[in-house]
Amino acid sequence: MAESAEILPFPAALPAPEERPVLVLDFGGQYSQLIARRVREARVYSELVSHTITAAEVRARNPLALILSGGPASVYAPGAPLMNSDVLELGIPTLGICYGMQVMARDLGGSVESNDISEYGKAEATLTESALFRDLPADQVVWMSHRDSVTAAPPGARVTASSPSTPIAAFEDPARGHYAVQFHPEVVHTPEGQEILKNFLYEVAGAPPSWTPAAVIEEQVERIRAQVGSERVICGLSGGVDSAVAALLVYKAVGDQLTCVFVDHGLMRENEAEQVVETFGGHFHVPLVHVQAEERFLTKLAGVSDPETKRKIVGEEFIRVFEEEAEKLGDVRFLVQGTLYSDVIESGGDDGVAAKIKSHHNVGGLPDDMEMDLVEPLRLLFKDEVRRVGEELGMPERMVWRQPFPGPGLSIRIIGDVTKERLDILRAADVVLQEEIRRAGLYRDLWQSFAVLPAIKSVGVQGDERTYAYPVVIRAVTSEDAMTADWARLPYDVLETISNRIINEVPGVNRVALDLSSKPPATIEWE
Ligand code: XMP
Repeated sequence: MAESAEILPFPAALPAPEERPVLVLDFGGQYSQLIARRVREARVYSELVSHTITAAEVRARNPLALILSGGPASVYAPGAPLMNSDVLELGIPTLGICYGMQVMARDLGGSVESNDISEYGKAEATLTESALFRDLPADQVVWMSHRDSVTAAPPGARVTASSPSTPIAAFEDPARGHYAVQFHPEVVHTPEGQEILKNFLYEVAGAPPSWTPAAVIEEQVERIRAQVGSERVICGLSGGVDSAVAALLVYKAVGDQLTCVFVDHGLMRENEAEQVVETFGGHFHVPLVHVQAEERFLTKLAGVSDPETKRKIVGEEFIRVFEEEAEKLGDVRFLVQGTLYSDVIESGGDDGVAAKIKSHHNVGGLPDDMEMDLVEPLRLLFKDEVRRVGEELGMPERMVWRQPFPGPGLSIRIIGDVTKERLDILRAADVVLQEEIRRAGLYRDLWQSFAVLPAIKSVGVQGDERTYAYPVVIRAVTSEDAMTADWARLPYDVLETISNRIINEVPGVNRVALDLSSKPPATIEWE
């Protein structure tokens, strides 16, 4: 039946996943966001909130469970983040992790003391009977990272795990819904950690695994419809996965009320612009305005070599073109933006969730002074969830898994003057690089991989001819979030093929170099 492809609605009795969240109280630990992601990977919706949340605020959110994150060294240190302890009296299943466990112990009448020996890294823990450890072997490797330890569990609580240096590695008081572990179940170094989190979510809190890409799509489509009504919407496409998924969600919700504008600044890589047009216009039939503005951008960029000036020019010109197109469309009330959850959380803020948009994030730098209301269908999602939603919506693999690409495009990968000739050289070299990286199965392992064109030439010899041509620099990095990055150890044979092919196939290039710099002190891009 044709209908079977439709997304099934939630049974009427079940609330939407985000109406019953698992709230992660953020005590400032480095893994707080990771906890929320792991919970979502278990298909339970989770959000980060400040540790200062009050019992009334918690009750208003109607959470299925609470998780207290890790945090700084000592619960007794002056200024240490604490919680409103009446939150623990609400009868909501609560899991304290590391510092979160110590806060629980402190607030519930147990005790916490500073150890002479701190415990960092892998530890052998012995687990006892507990819903948290259901179906797990008693001997477990767990990841510890603490100086203080719980030295007495709260009255009424039972110790459920120990390690050689931490006799109280877990405690629980099921009648009150209290569970606590000293180790970190959210990190991969605790091999059964995800199972422990799942046990907490499914067995202890009874949370249904209903946060799925299909559910996200259904929810967002409904929200968009409610927000937009019969008004018109505009969306700037950048070629990246965020704006693409945001646009497709809006299209699914309101169809032709949406117009996408793709400002093609001529600074994309080979075939990238065609792919956007083919995917949106051709495949999904989304109303699409493709503005071919290469000449306009290259004219503005002529003779400019300062990186920040290039960025400014591309950004400003982008806004100008976008505004012109918006004006042509007439009465458009809404603007779609691909803002992600990680862009909006500001952990530790007053409400834990405060608007804080990274300047890099704006789709190629969309105008912020436009008098339009924002539609932000990705506001609840982490990047990996955006990708899963993209896959569910049928987006091509290349778009879903595209490595990040900067708004100013190749203009900041060409050192010095950006000309058509130099763009063509860089594009041709980049095609080879991408092909070989993909062929080697490395594309998804790398945060970014690209070619850079420096502003120098060097001597070479090809056949009997002396050449004087550009070198191309290969830049490939691994990273979690672009804040730090390491140069990727690409296999020699892959490098050899890339080098041979670039020099043989790309006129104007006679040398290939490899960038061996990590960030910091270098940056990922060359400009
Ligand atoms: P850097 O070079 O600062 O880059 O280590 C960190 C990440 O940001 C991307 N990047 C940009 N993205 N506009 C963007 O949209 C920009 O001007 C810009 N500059 C750098 C870069 O590709 C990397 O992922």
